[in-house]
Amino acid sequence: MGPRIARAYAHGGLTTRMSDAPLFVEWYARNRARTQGLFDLVADEAYYSRPIDLRHPIVFYEGHLPAFSFNTLVRRARGGESIDPELETLFARGVDPDESNGRRTGEAHRWPSRATVQQFAAEADRRVREALARGDLERRGHPLLDRAEAVFAILEHEAMHQETLLYMWHRLPFDQKRRPADYRPPSDGDVPAQEWIDIPAGCATLGADDDALRFGWDNERPRRVEDVPAFAIQRHDVTNAAYLEFVKAGGPVPLFWERAVGSFAWRGMFDLIPRPLSWPVYVMQEQAAAYAAWRGWRLPTEAEFQRAAYGTPDGAERVHPWGEAAPTSAHGVFDFSSWDPEPAGSHPAGRSAWGVDDLVGNGWEWTSTVFAPFPGFRAMPSYPEYSADFFDGQHVVMKGASPATARELLRPTFRNWFRPRYPYVYATFRCAR
Ligand code: AVJ
Ligand code: FE
Repeated sequence: MGPRIARAYAHGGLTTRMSDAPLFVEWYARNRARTQGLFDLVADEAYYSRPIDLRHPIVFYEGHLPAFSFNTLVRRARGGESIDPELETLFARGVDPDESNGRRTGEAHRWPSRATVQQFAAEADRRVREALARGDLERRGHPLLDRAEAVFAILEHEAMHQETLLYMWHRLPFDQKRRPADYRPPSDGDVPAQEWIDIPAGCATLGADDDALRFGWDNERPRRVEDVPAFAIQRHDVTNAAYLEFVKAGGPVPLFWERAVGSFAWRGMFDLIPRPLSWPVYVMQEQAAAYAAWRGWRLPTEAEFQRAAYGTPDGAERVHPWGEAAPTSAHGVFDFSSWDPEPAGSHPAGRSAWGVDDLVGNGWEWTSTVFAPFPGFRAMPSYPEYSADFFDGQHVVMKGASPATARELLRPTFRNWFRPRYPYVYATFRCAR
């Protein structure tokens, strides 16, 4: 028997099935507007560049987002007509299949002109909107439309890519980005005093069954309950101040740090920011694990994160670390509320039942858990490769959220994953023992 779940997780406020169609239309429009805004930030000369070696150039993503939505919902789920089979294939997949071959060298194909990409994207987008507006997107027993799976898949896929786009934009030279006129990066603050929080032995629910979730990716299913022995976890994320001690002792330098004389500057989205000591450090998982070991500690497991974030002393589990309330900017730094992190501990309203700060928001949290399926895993028909391609023992689980994680993705079962040496993500950590 696992712990009681406070209530079934409503998805992003979507609780009534019959009236989902207008919400889908509105969510899709909101996604498209945000994607447009992100592409508007990039200078024209960066369009064919590839700011992250292992990913496609920027041009790919302008086609990929509408192509994935069109291929999944209009073509596969609804059996609609093709627009351009070649472009549909070219833009089908955003995670490079040859990722494991390491750095890509030559360019496999030449990319179409921007006008061609935009024309195709606009037509795919138009047909997706049409399908969403027409409705009838939920059909029991249909491989792709049962519980409107294909609709949620395309909506969450676009939201996730907005974050991966920002990782790429982050690496562009500052002069290839159009800085929003009103943006000022968050200022530094006091470095919070670190504390250990003891969490007694208990259960943590990791996955969920279909009927408990309006939508979840295949790797979130089915329900899985783990026994978690007593452990202690740090109240705050490891700050740049704490990590600086490690670097001074010879530890590896984060990609987000650029050396200034005798110290470091943080590479922000639009600025180099001198020594924001109170911000959570962003590092690759290998560096996080090395820091923990240097201190004599370790990274938390996925189940420990889950218990620290969603467990409570009375045994019930919450929908968010702070409880049942819908996420707002008071609870943490997510949903594109900032281009850069904020000082650790600046969102007390988002604290978990145990008093742990910033578990959701201000940076994903690395765990020591290798990304793997829960027992009973079934690949989802709307996107069978989504998780299965990464159950290779080479990826580790990240939990929580970053400033660039859409609020629709904030649910306890959501799992993210990257390789331990992937340095680009907005990911921080805290230690356990
Ligand atoms: C779940 C964030 C690891 O971007 O690599 C997007 C999401 N998969 N298109 C990624 C994804 C296919 C994926 N992550
Ligand atoms: Fe994708």
